[in-house]
Amino acid sequence: MPTLKTTVDGLVMQNPFVIGSGPPGTNLQVIMRAFKEGWGGVIAKTISLDSTKVINVSPRYAKLKSGDGKEVIGWENIELISDRSFDKWLEEFKQIKDAYPEGILIASIMEEFNKDAWCEITERCQDAGVDAFELNFSCPHGLPERKMGAAMGQDPGVLGEVCEWVNAVSKIPVWAKMTPNITHIEDPSRAALAAGCEGISAINTIRSVMGVNLDTLRPEPTVEGYSTPGGYSSKAVKPIALRMVMEIAQMIRKEFPGRTISAMGGVETGRDAAQFILLGGDTVQVCTGVMKFGYPMVKQLCEELLEFMESKGFETLDDFKGHSLGYFTTHAELVRLQAERKIKDSEAAKAKTVAKDGDWDGDEFVKQSNDLATN
Ligand SMILES: Cc1cc2nc3c(=O)[nH]c(=O)nc-3n(C[C@H](O)[C@H](O)[C@H](O)COP(=O)(O)O)c2cc1C
Repeated sequence: MPTLKTTVDGLVMQNPFVIGSGPPGTNLQVIMRAFKEGWGGVIAKTISLDSTKVINVSPRYAKLKSGDGKEVIGWENIELISDRSFDKWLEEFKQIKDAYPEGILIASIMEEFNKDAWCEITERCQDAGVDAFELNFSCPHGLPERKMGAAMGQDPGVLGEVCEWVNAVSKIPVWAKMTPNITHIEDPSRAALAAGCEGISAINTIRSVMGVNLDTLRPEPTVEGYSTPGGYSSKAVKPIALRMVMEIAQMIRKEFPGRTISAMGGVETGRDAAQFILLGGDTVQVCTGVMKFGYPMVKQLCEELLEFMESKGFETLDDFKGHSLGYFTTHAELVRLQAERKIKDSEAAKAKTVAKDGDWDGDEFVKQSNDLATN
C-alpha cells in the first residue's frame, strides 16, 4: 500500500498537500478547520508588522468562467496581504500549534527593504512557534509603491539580500515564494537558494486584467469605476505553473541538489498534484481550489494521488519525484529524434516489403506506398 507521508526540510507531513497563502488561511478558525480536515500543512495569509498600512478594497475578485458558465477556470484578485493585527496573529499562531502540534504551520511574511523589519518579523513569528517561513516576494499588485512583493522578487540582488537577513536569524526552514511575472524564474530562485533558503515556492499569481465590461466599458474588477491589474490563479494557470516549476527543478538538480520545491498553480485534483511532483515538487499547495471546493477536498486529493501511485507501482512520493524532468529537451533535438525515427520506420517498411516478396494484396500495396511517400 503506497504512503503519502513525507518529510520535507525536516518537516514531517502526513501528506504533501499544503494550503497556499490566501483566504483559506486567513485566521485561526479556518487554519484549525484545515488541520481538522487532514491537510498536511497550512501557509497562513501573508502578514507584516504594521497591518494599518494595508487597506483592502471591494470587490477584489473577478472570475473567468467556462463556455457554459458553470465552471470557474480563472480567478483574478486584487487582494492585499492580511489587514489583521500582527499581535493578534502571533497569539493565534500559538493557539493553533497548541491545538494541532503535528500540523505544519508556515508563516508567510512580507516587509519593505529594511533589515530590522525582516529580522523582527522573523524572530517574533519563530518565537510564536511556527514550523517554517515562506517569504512572499511575489504578490503582483500589492504594495509596489513600498517596493514589496513582486517588486522585490523581480530583483535577484535585493531578494538575495533579504533572504540572507532572514536566514541569519531563522532557526527553522525558509522557503522563498517566487513571482511568475519574470522572464527567467530560475534567477531569483537561485539567489534565494544561494542565500541559504531551504526551498522555493512557486508560483504566485500572474499579473492580469480579467476583462472589460461591454455595458459600462470599465475594466474588471471595477472599484469606484476604475481597476488595477491583479493576480491570476486557478485551473487556467496550471500549464504556466508546471513550466516554471520544471525550470526551477532543473536548476536545483544542477546547482543545489537536495533543496526543495513547494509547487502550486491551478491544482484541483490528485492527478494535477502528481504532475507537479513528477516535475520536481516536494509538496503541493492549493489556494483557489480550496476557495472553490472547500477544505474537505483534501480527502479526494489524497485518494486520487494514492490511486495514481498504486496504478504505477510507486510506494512513496520519492519514487516518482522529478521523474519526468528527464524528458525535456530542445526543439532542435525533437526534430533530430523524429527524423531518426522516420528513417528507422522506412527501413523497417522496406525490409517487410522484401520479406513478403510480391504476394501483397492491393490494399496493402496502397498503404505501404503511402507510408513510404510520407517518409
Ligand atoms: C484571493 C487570493 C489571495 C491571495 N493572497 C496571497 C497572499 O496573501 N500571499 C501569497 O503569498 N499568495 C497569495 N495568493 C496566491 C496563492 O497563494 C497562489 O500562489 C496562487 O493563487 C496560485 O495557486 P492557486 O491556483 O492554487 O490559487 C493569493 C491568491 C488568491 C486567489
